[in-house]
Amino acid sequence: MSDIQIDDPVIAKQTPRADFTIDQCWDEYTAEEHEVWDILYHRQIEILADRAAPVFLDGLKRLELSRSGIPDLARLNKALKALTGWEVVMVPHLVPDEVFFDHLANRRFPAGRFIRKRSQLDYLQEPDVFHDIFGHVPMLAYPVFADYMQAYGQGGLRAAKLGRLKNLARLYWYTVEFGLIQTEAGLRIYGAGIVSSAGESRYALEDEKPNRIGFDLERVMRTNYEIDDFQKSYFVIESYEQLFEATQQDFGPIYAQLGEDETAYTSSEVLAKDNLLKL
Ligand SMILES: [Fe+2]
Repeated sequence: MSDIQIDDPVIAKQTPRADFTIDQCWDEYTAEEHEVWDILYHRQIEILADRAAPVFLDGLKRLELSRSGIPDLARLNKALKALTGWEVVMVPHLVPDEVFFDHLANRRFPAGRFIRKRSQLDYLQEPDVFHDIFGHVPMLAYPVFADYMQAYGQGGLRAAKLGRLKNLARLYWYTVEFGLIQTEAGLRIYGAGIVSSAGESRYALEDEKPNRIGFDLERVMRTNYEIDDFQKSYFVIESYEQLFEATQQDFGPIYAQLGEDETAYTSSEVLAKDNLLKL
């Protein structure tokens, strides 16, 4: 899946547990690794001040992610658990779907231990500790989103049984990774794939090319996405409650419908029924 070699001796020397977790061994991060975190952190925080969702920025503050260096899970988890009962666990690389869902269903977020090299600040196919912690964890400090992520994990275990993982993966992609939200101050980013990318943070909000479409669960579940490029469409929620409520319905009938009619939309397509937002 990835052509990036994860060059991390602390991962290499460990045998993952049955749930694929490993120890962070925070003391073993090098000064260079901490410095890469700091470079990425400072670059993003400047870009995101007027672009990220207030909930995301608030999560960064509450979890004190502005401290220098890669966060120590021992400290981070204490703060996160107190807020929403979530914790972050370390994994050596991407984990199988059912393992991932099981962690989420139990309020554990699997994060990569390694950090990208200074020479690949913008090039990343396999999620690293910056993407996973800076990008995802602030949202987990917000109760409604924390509940959404758990519901997603529970839904994943069910979708796997029903053979609808493809549809559910699109929901994750267009919300957790690449979601936008409408706020009083305008469009804001909450998706981890955007907030952890300097280029896409600007592109998602300001470029004229991509479509910005009002969130619709079934529409999202039918829409293909871009893996190697910026997204051609973003889906915009009105509130996190809207997202959580969408996961509270029975997906069974939706899956049945999707199963009968496998129509998938391309990532750039705009439909007549779409609520297309103007910049
Ligand atoms: Fe991610």
